[in-house]
Amino acid sequence: MAENKKTATLSFDGKTFELPMMSPVLGPDVIDIRRLYADGDIFTFDPGFTSTASCESDITFIDGEKGELLYRGYPIDQLAEKSHYLEVCYLLLYGELPSADELDDFESRVTNHTMVHEQMHNFFRGFRRDAHPMATMVGVVGAMSAFYHDSTDINDPYQREVASIRMIAKLPTIAAMAYKYSIGQPFVYPRNDLDYASNFLRMCFAVPAEDYEVNPILSRAMDRIFTLHADHEQNASTSTVRLAGSSGANPFACIAAGIACLWGPAHGGANEAALSMLREIGTVDNIPEYVRRAKDKDDPFRLMGFGHRVYKNFDPRAKVMKESADEVLGLLGIENNPTLQVAKELERIALEDEYFVSKKLYPNVDFYSGIILDAMGFSTSMFTPIFALSRTVGWIAQWKEMIGDPTQKIGRPRQLYIGAANRDYIDVESR
Ligand code: CMC
Repeated sequence: MAENKKTATLSFDGKTFELPMMSPVLGPDVIDIRRLYADGDIFTFDPGFTSTASCESDITFIDGEKGELLYRGYPIDQLAEKSHYLEVCYLLLYGELPSADELDDFESRVTNHTMVHEQMHNFFRGFRRDAHPMATMVGVVGAMSAFYHDSTDINDPYQREVASIRMIAKLPTIAAMAYKYSIGQPFVYPRNDLDYASNFLRMCFAVPAEDYEVNPILSRAMDRIFTLHADHEQNASTSTVRLAGSSGANPFACIAAGIACLWGPAHGGANEAALSMLREIGTVDNIPEYVRRAKDKDDPFRLMGFGHRVYKNFDPRAKVMKESADEVLGLLGIENNPTLQVAKELERIALEDEYFVSKKLYPNVDFYSGIILDAMGFSTSMFTPIFALSRTVGWIAQWKEMIGDPTQKIGRPRQLYIGAANRDYIDVESR
């Protein structure tokens, strides 16, 4: 980021500070407050980091007003239409689209790492038989640092690379195993003659008694879901990965931290929550009551799959996802399924309703992804694990960028303390 000639002036208590300003390639200027505490003995207050840039990054850019998402400068809709997930992984990790040879080499490196250590099967079996696949994934991905200890030295670029490839290759296997375990079916080993998305579908849906014929339209839709979720700037889980990594933690531990953060219903858990909500609404007649509740300040209910911290226009991922939903449901001949009808009517009503219009609350990516995944046959508990495996590459790219940043420091926010002031301890008998 280039420092520009502008400065911002901050005055308080008779003191004045000239704060340098910086101009990014895209997006608003930023005020550099790094020396504010050292020079002015003062903090800034920004819960939820709504006005704080926590790092420099050249990976992903979002323009929330325009509804634009770029990976390394390329618009998401172009990538979703023309590229595919592993090529997008290469782009996110290394900064440029690969040549044909580079792509071949990358794909074979990923493919060679799809199996997990056989002992990991025992580790899975330690979980309760009906464990939520996200719970299993947080544990198993964290445990990769025990199974692959030879790629945990963050100061060795070779080990960082091996850890990255291992995670991109093994996360689909781990997510599929978590799913199989939760429904009491045997694990299905990966097949390296299949592409990334087809292999994942097969690991989820094949059984020893019957193989799974991968439908190319479903595998394309799966690949798009992976692509659309691959990265999203400094969101909660990515910031979690960076914060965990800033202490020097190993990459598997950092990605496990990201998965844990993603699980929440305000973040990656929203796709599961959105479909559960559509099912709960049940029929089109019940929609007005749910819309009324969403608008009621005294009711904590929110329309899941609506709204976004950054997008104040249509989520560009939602546009692509909506097209994919139509394609998949058309293929499967279930355009008239009741959940989809509720979704379409809810979208129509919310887009016309003054409350949602004035607050710029549009459907987000999770509103449609749940519908597609449900139609494909996934249980709702698998929606967030699929988001997690797609986002792994983004987390890794951001983690690698942070490790290579010479200005990087351990993340350590300050606070506005509102607790008791200094007071003396009182013995229990006297309290
Ligand atoms: N339904 C009803 N009202 C809403 C909703 C909603 N889904 N989202 C925001 N609002 C209202 C909110 O009550 C507030 O109203 P007021 O100004 O009167 O207090 C106003 O809109 C602004 O909301 P906010 O909570 O200050 O906005 P935020 O940026 O902190 O929250 C959000 C963003 C995504 C957490 C929120 O919109 C939400 O909870 N949405 C539902 C969950 C969801 O779909 N999450 C997936 C996000 S996309 C996937 C991802 O990137 O993880």
